Amino acid sequence: MVTFDIRKFDTLDSTNTYLKKLAEEGEKEGIVIIADSQTSGRGRRGKSFYSPEGTGLYMSILLRPDKSIADITLITTAAAVALSLAIEEVYHKEVLIKWVNDIYLGEKKLAGILTEGSFSHNTPDYIVLGIGVNLTTEKFPDEIKDIAVSLGLDRKDELLQEILAQFNKLYENISSPEIHKEYVKRSFLTGREVEILNKNGLSGTVVGIDKNFRLEVELENKEHIFLSSGDVSVKVKK
Ligand code: BTN
Repeated sequence: MVTFDIRKFDTLDSTNTYLKKLAEEGEKEGIVIIADSQTSGRGRRGKSFYSPEGTGLYMSILLRPDKSIADITLITTAAAVALSLAIEEVYHKEVLIKWVNDIYLGEKKLAGILTEGSFSHNTPDYIVLGIGVNLTTEKFPDEIKDIAVSLGLDRKDELLQEILAQFNKLYENISSPEIHKEYVKRSFLTGREVEILNKNGLSGTVVGIDKNFRLEVELENKEHIFLSSGDVSVKVKK
């Protein structure tokens, strides 16, 4: 079990950036950094994560996994399931997981996960698991106002404790088929038509998520292909 040591800040550039510095300095596993706001909150693929004061949960967890590389690749999916279970427990709302690091409420993005790591000789030195959840944000910037949503209630401390408890359970048993089962139940993309980005506009219908959390897509010519989240991203077709 990871023992958590929670440290709270008013504002940081990014809880992930801050915690990566601590990790480089040799800090121990289990430090959790929380900021009330972030001036440069980061998402995947160089995107920013809107993090205004007092309206969201912006957190990062330092892990030093003594696990195989295969298991380490499961940290984001385990976190997505833990986050979904925690939101459902604390807010009694059902959420979906968009392959692999976004949490959706209805058709809009509610939360995101950014996992960053440092490896030497194929062994993980550390992993920083960053989670951002829109709690009471009302006014999103124009570029995301149609695609972002918040929970509408501030139960930040309760949610934080529940995320840590759920994640700890799953992290202990990261390759358990239970995680895959809970993930598949909440798959946002299954049954949707998607465009596969960086693949010359290839399109198809998502038919499932395989045991390795690859997206199974049936192309228009009925061929099935399997996509890894590290390699490609997909866009839902309207
Ligand atoms: C994404 O949307 O692609 C992932 C967003 C992750 C945001 C969280 S907020 C806390 C942590 N610090 C960051 O800079 N990013 C993550």
